[in-house]
Amino acid sequence: MLNTKFFEIVRRAGELMRSYSCPAVRQKEGHADFVTEADEAVQAYLMEALHRQIPSAAFLAEEGEHAALTDALTFIIDPIDGTTNYFRGRRSSVISVGLVEGKRAVAGAVYDPYHDLMYHAERGQGAWCEGERLRVSELPIGQALVELGTSPYHTDLNALTAHALEKLLPRVADVRRSGSAALDLCHVASGTAEGMFEWLLQPWDYCAGSLLVEEAGGKAGNIFGGEATFSEGIPFMAGSAVCFEALRQILWEARDEIGAKGSVDRG
Ligand code: IPD
Repeated sequence: MLNTKFFEIVRRAGELMRSYSCPAVRQKEGHADFVTEADEAVQAYLMEALHRQIPSAAFLAEEGEHAALTDALTFIIDPIDGTTNYFRGRRSSVISVGLVEGKRAVAGAVYDPYHDLMYHAERGQGAWCEGERLRVSELPIGQALVELGTSPYHTDLNALTAHALEKLLPRVADVRRSGSAALDLCHVASGTAEGMFEWLLQPWDYCAGSLLVEEAGGKAGNIFGGEATFSEGIPFMAGSAVCFEALRQILWEARDEIGAKGSVDRG
């Protein structure tokens, strides 16, 4: 599924992303939620080029392509994951392209154009980066680095995020906040972090990365149970096989202690 042409297209999208020195930025609806002209251009390029490769595939993409997910083959795209990093010049943003069929991720790639690193996976065939097989870490929770997403566009989740952080800090080695969920998932798949969570995360942010984690031997899904559905934003987490359940217990404790505040339900 992920052939030479596919990788060529995603790398070219990376070149396009890096070609803007000072992209125009617009505010979207949520708190501190932005889109740049580069997000739109990269998305348009990817949709056109990928459509030429697989004309029957549908698209679900961050910038305005929010069609309902069906069982058909569907590309789920975040043209620039880490948009704020991008327009603030932090060089820590990636392109994320997942492929879903029957509402299950079957392939995905996350491309970091600043380091020219292509992370990719196909179901049943392992996760890879530049010829090296990726494997999740075997460290225990007490030595874990946990990547934290802060759901920045949903201020109703601030207290829950802060409380989860308070519960985590004494029980893991430390936390990290990169500003790109897809990049966080690459870290978990590569074994340079043991877990990742965000109380509300969209399918384009987690689609390709969750397959990378699973194919590297880890787990990914809804914090409150079940697999990621790819059709909507969910309380999302991923982790190594060793740390996933322990991290989930800490997050549940945080949710139970915060009570009814915040918009996250245990479903
Ligand atoms: C965002 C990043 C960020 C996460 C947000 C996402 P975007 O993606 O992944 O780390 O905390 O929830 O929306 O908006 O930059 O594509």
